[in-house]
Amino acid sequence: MSSQLVYLNGEYLPLNEAKISVLDRGFIFGDGVYEVIPAYGSKALRFEHHMQRLQNSLDAVRITNPLSNAQWQEIIDKLIAETGPQDQSIYLHITRGVASRDHRFPDDSKPTVFVMSNILPAVEPELLKTGISAVTLDDIRWQYCNIKAIALLPNILLRQQAVDKGTAEAILIRNGSMTEGAASNVFIVSGGIIKTPPKDQQVLPGITRDLIVELAKTHNMPIEEISISEKEFLAAEEIWLTSSTKEILPVTQINEQQVGNGKPGVVWQDMYQKYQDYKETLRK
Ligand SMILES: Cc1ncc(COP(=O)(O)O)c(C=O)c1O
Repeated sequence: MSSQLVYLNGEYLPLNEAKISVLDRGFIFGDGVYEVIPAYGSKALRFEHHMQRLQNSLDAVRITNPLSNAQWQEIIDKLIAETGPQDQSIYLHITRGVASRDHRFPDDSKPTVFVMSNILPAVEPELLKTGISAVTLDDIRWQYCNIKAIALLPNILLRQQAVDKGTAEAILIRNGSMTEGAASNVFIVSGGIIKTPPKDQQVLPGITRDLIVELAKTHNMPIEEISISEKEFLAAEEIWLTSSTKEILPVTQINEQQVGNGKPGVVWQDMYQKYQDYKETLRK
C-alpha cells in the first residue's frame, strides 16, 4: 500500500513519500474540493461528467482549475495503468494551497493537487440479495451541498450516527423533504414511478444519479425529478442509494421498518441490470 504510486503537485511518487505542508489550507480549513471517479476496463466512467462537476466545484469556491482535461486524463490513465487491470476508484483532491493561516484568500498561493487510484472492490453480492438498512436524520449540512467540498465533517457525523444505530447510511431530511444520503443520492419508487429530488443546492449532483435518470429515460421507465416529502419517502415501495463506488444499493429497512416487502424491489433489479450493462460497454 505504501509503495502505491500517487500524483502530487506534478510528481509521481510512492504514497509514503507524498507529503504536504501543515499550512496547506486543505489541512487548516478544509478549503478545497474533490472528485471520485470509478474506472472499469481501465477506463474512467463518465470522465467528462466528472470533469464538468469538478470545474463547477472549483468555480464555486473560486480556485482556478490547475490542469486541463487532457492533463487530468493523462494522470488518471497513468495511475490506472500502475494500479493494474482491476476496477478502480480514482480520487482527485485540490486545495487552495499553502499560505499563512488567514481566512481570506491568499494573494499568491498555488493549488495543491493530489490524485490516487485504489482498487474498487465489487459490491458484496449478499447486500444485493438482502438490501441494506438506513435511518433518517436531520440534514445539518450547509447551504451549498452541490459543491463537492472536502470539508465533510457534517457528513461524517451523520454517517457515524447511522452506523451507531447499526445501519449503513443516514438519509437526510431538510424542511420536511428528503434530500440525499450522507454520501449518496437517493431514489424511491412511489406509485410505480421512480423519483429523485431535483438538482439544486441541497444535493450533490451525483454522476451515478444522472446516469440512472438517463437510463430510465432511454428505456421508457417512468421517472420524475421532484421534491419528495418525508411522508412519501417513508411510504415508498422501494428506496435506492446511488454513488460511484456503491453503484445502486437497495434499502430494505428504514428506521427499523420494512421497505415494501422487505426485499430488493423489481424496479431496482431492472435498473441495476441496466447499470451493469452500461458499465460493461467500457470493458469492450
Ligand atoms: C453527499 C453525496 N451525495 C451523492 C453522492 C453520489 O455522487 P456520485 O454518484 O457522483 O458518486 C456522493 C458521493 O460520494 C456524496 O458524497
